[in-house]
Amino acid sequence: MALPQITSSDVEDLIPNCKVVGKSLGGGQKLVFPCSVDGTLCAIKFILLNNLTDDFDGTIASKVEAVRARVEREITIMQKINSPYIAKMGAVSLTATTLSEQNILFYSEEWIDGQDLSQILQSSNKLPPEEVVKLGVNIVEAISELWNLNKVHRDIKPQNITRRACDGSYVLLDLGLALDLDDKSLTQFGFVPGTKVYFSPEQLDVAHKRDIDFRSDLFSLGIVLYQAITGIHPFYTYGMPDQELFLRINSQPIIAPNTVDSNIPKSLSDIICRLLSKQPSGRYRKCLLLLNEFKKIYIELGENS
Ligand SMILES: Nc1ncnc2c1ncn2[C@@H]1O[C@H](COP(=O)(O)OP(=O)(O)O)[C@@H](O)[C@H]1O
Ligand SMILES: [Mg+2]
Repeated sequence: MALPQITSSDVEDLIPNCKVVGKSLGGGQKLVFPCSVDGTLCAIKFILLNNLTDDFDGTIASKVEAVRARVEREITIMQKINSPYIAKMGAVSLTATTLSEQNILFYSEEWIDGQDLSQILQSSNKLPPEEVVKLGVNIVEAISELWNLNKVHRDIKPQNITRRACDGSYVLLDLGLALDLDDKSLTQFGFVPGTKVYFSPEQLDVAHKRDIDFRSDLFSLGIVLYQAITGIHPFYTYGMPDQELFLRINSQPIIAPNTVDSNIPKSLSDIICRLLSKQPSGRYRKCLLLLNEFKKIYIELGENS
C-alpha cells in the first residue's frame, strides 16, 4: 500500500494548534508525524485510501471500506485498553479529508518516545538475556490485555515494538491488524494481513481458515525473542522466497537458542522453543503461566550475577 504524500506544513494546516516536531516515520501503511498539539506530544498517523489496488481481491469501494474498518477497529481497541505496554489514543479523533486528490484518514496516538526494536537490533544485533526477558514480559502483558478483550494482534514484529527512552520498557504499537474473533468481516477477501516473516503456522493456513487465538501472537513473539537473543531469525534469511519461508515455519524443527550460543541460559532457551511449537497446544495455555516462567528467570539471572 502506498503512503500518502504529506508535508509537515500540510499537517500543521490540517490540524489546529499543531506543530510538527520531527521527521515523519513510515510503516507499511501509515505515515506518522511526531507532533505537539496544544502542547502535548503525539503521533499523528495518516492513511491513504486511494491506490488500493493490489492488497487483496474485491472492488475498490469495498477495499476502502475494509481499510476504514481496520482503522476504526484499531482506534476502538486502543480506547478500551489501558496498559503501559500498548500505545493509547490521542486527542485528534479519526478524521477523513482530501489533500491534492488524495483521500486520507488521520488520527493521533500518545507519542512513545524511544527507539523501535528493529533499529535496536540493527545496531546491536543481540540483546542480553535480562533485556530479552524484560521484552518478553512487557509484550506478553500487552498480548494478555488484548486477549482479555478477545483480540489477537496478528502483527507482532520488531518494527511494531518501541523501547521507551524514559524507563526502557517495551510498548506494542500498531493494532491495525488486530482481529476481533467475533467479527470475520475483515478477512472476507481472503487477504492475509501481517508480516509473513513473523507469522505463526496457523496464520499461514488460510486454506483451512484455522481459528487463531493469543497463542498465534505468542509464536510471533517467540520469533522476535529468538532473534533478539541469538541475533538470527529462526526461519528466514534475506531474500528467501515465501514458499521456503512457509515450509520452514510449518515444519522445520527449531535449533535451540542455547545450541546456537551456549551462553544463553537454558531456561530462557526452553521458553523460546516452547513459544515456537508448531501446534498452539504446545505453547502456553495462559499468559500468566508464561509470565511466571519469565519471573523465575529474572531471579535466576539475579542470583548468577
Ligand atoms: N505512538 C507512536 N509513538 C512513536 N512512534 C510511533 C508511534 N506509532 C508509530 N510509530 C512509528 O511509526 C512507525 C509506523 O507506524 P505503525 O502504526 O506501525 O504503521 P504501519 O501500519 O504503517 O506499520 C512505527 O514502526 C514506529 O516507528
Ligand atoms: Mg507497523
